[in-house]
Amino acid sequence: HIPVITIDGPTASGKGTVAHKVADKLGFHLLDSGALYRLTALQALRRGTPLTDEHALAKLAEHLHIHFSGDAIFLSNENVSDAIRAEEVGNTASKIAALPPVRQALYGLQLSFRKAPGLVADGRDMGTVIFPHAQLKVFLTASVEARADRRYKQLIGKGISANMDDLLMDLRARDDRDTHRAIAPLVPAEGAHVLDTSNMTVETAVEQVLGWYAA
Ligand code: CDP
Repeated sequence: HIPVITIDGPTASGKGTVAHKVADKLGFHLLDSGALYRLTALQALRRGTPLTDEHALAKLAEHLHIHFSGDAIFLSNENVSDAIRAEEVGNTASKIAALPPVRQALYGLQLSFRKAPGLVADGRDMGTVIFPHAQLKVFLTASVEARADRRYKQLIGKGISANMDDLLMDLRARDDRDTHRAIAPLVPAEGAHVLDTSNMTVETAVEQVLGWYAA
């Protein structure tokens, strides 16, 4: 039986970083499910697919030619690791993620990441929909201010100018969409451990998750 650890939470909660480190420590595979929605969004933006055409979008999702190499993500042999992190791509991803045919199209692909010796899956519905029988479910959260502050530092660190008020507004809009959508809304899974990282370092959060897993 191949173990799965799910880490779900809102945007900029640090779950990507925590999931990465937990996977490294345990030697497990990693599923960054948000990247799959971002790849679909990038493809749709490039092709000019209308964001209202859910069946065309689902087709795009179903036929993505992707592969992961270390930390890099390739789409049809092009390294799109940076391109998919653009704010426009993230916003588009959050819109198309509300469409049931798109979520359905990415379902099987997500399951296929479960390989020995184990998987750490990061997203919004890993514990509720994709891996409901996971050995450990974590819901990672932080106050909207703490998350905006982290995103601000991230952007400034990359030499990208950022405005705190715009970031707060953007995070709230994204939270609202992710939490209130009809399909796979962002809520803690049944049996999930909730971890508020507002005043916690990444290392402490990683230790906590590993501690729960070992228990
Ligand atoms: O970096 P951030 O946490 O904002 O986003 P992400 O994890 O890369 O995911 C991008 C978008 O995809 C999110 O805003 C969600 O709306 C959507 N998503 C989802 O619906 N289900 C998942 N399992 C993962 C992401």
